[in-house]
Amino acid sequence: MIKIAVSGALGRMGTTIGRIVDEAPDLSLVGGVDVREGTLFGTEVVPATRLDEFLKEKKPDVLVDFTVAAAAVENVRAAARNGVALVVGTTGFSPEQRETIRGAVEGNVPAVISSNFSVGVNIFWKLVREAARELGDYDIEVTEAHHRHKKDAPSGTAKTILEILDQELGDREKVYGRVGATERKNEIGVHVIRGGDIVGDHAVLFAGNFECIEISHRAYDRAVFAQGAVRAARWVVGREPRIYTMQDVLGI
Ligand SMILES: NC(=O)c1ccc[n+]([C@@H]2O[C@H](COP(=O)([O-])OP(=O)(O)OC[C@H]3O[C@@H](n4cnc5c(N)ncnc54)[C@H](O)[C@@H]3O)[C@@H](O)[C@H]2O)c1
Repeated sequence: MIKIAVSGALGRMGTTIGRIVDEAPDLSLVGGVDVREGTLFGTEVVPATRLDEFLKEKKPDVLVDFTVAAAAVENVRAAARNGVALVVGTTGFSPEQRETIRGAVEGNVPAVISSNFSVGVNIFWKLVREAARELGDYDIEVTEAHHRHKKDAPSGTAKTILEILDQELGDREKVYGRVGATERKNEIGVHVIRGGDIVGDHAVLFAGNFECIEISHRAYDRAVFAQGAVRAARWVVGREPRIYTMQDVLGI
């Protein structure tokens, strides 16, 4: 039985992960942390200020974190101090925060960190890489849409798309939206939509003369991210203490 704890346990993703863990016969939900007390499928949710104490008492094998960037950094440090493996889905990290996470994890605990845990998006990233290799001289525009409560923009998934494009095409200028007199050069346009309860849409448009190709992904339910995160939690137990991606989990 793999013991799972959830941080951000009362949030949209935390609750969805709690349900999937609770229903899995090979996993045991030991509780979670959030900013306030509560319950998660019959287990206790304690304030994040008591995370160290909680980890010592409940001894989870894996802490799954879907919170906000600043909180996730502290939660990762606490998990690493207590020898608890990690699955981190939180997005919006600064380069400095990424470095802090790396320093806390490497050599201490295994951690799967991904801006998107859906299988489909991980395949979508591969297709974007392949298209960029072949269509580097086409105009490229990245579009993403999410629900009205999302805190960071562009999404972590869109930032990963931009990293892939940079790796394949060199460091091109990014233009975030356009207004007024604009002249298209070699930039990559990035466009963010926020509204309603959109779970997560991403598209990359490659536009050439006389043709366009668009690669897109649409998530219909955040259970797709939660299922991927739970798959990563099963996979991460007993691995070497370093950072892994969802592509490592999927073997792609
Ligand atoms: N990687 C993926 O596949 C994926 C998918 C969906 C969302 N996300 C990311 O996951 C994060 C959470 O998304 P959400 O929609 O569930 O947000 P949400 O706002 O519904 O939930 C976040 C929860 O974290 C809690 N929290 C804040 N500070 C905390 C702390 N110090 N310790 C513990 N909990 C704390 C909040 O109270 C809230 O309950 C965001 O960064 C989002 O971009 C990633």
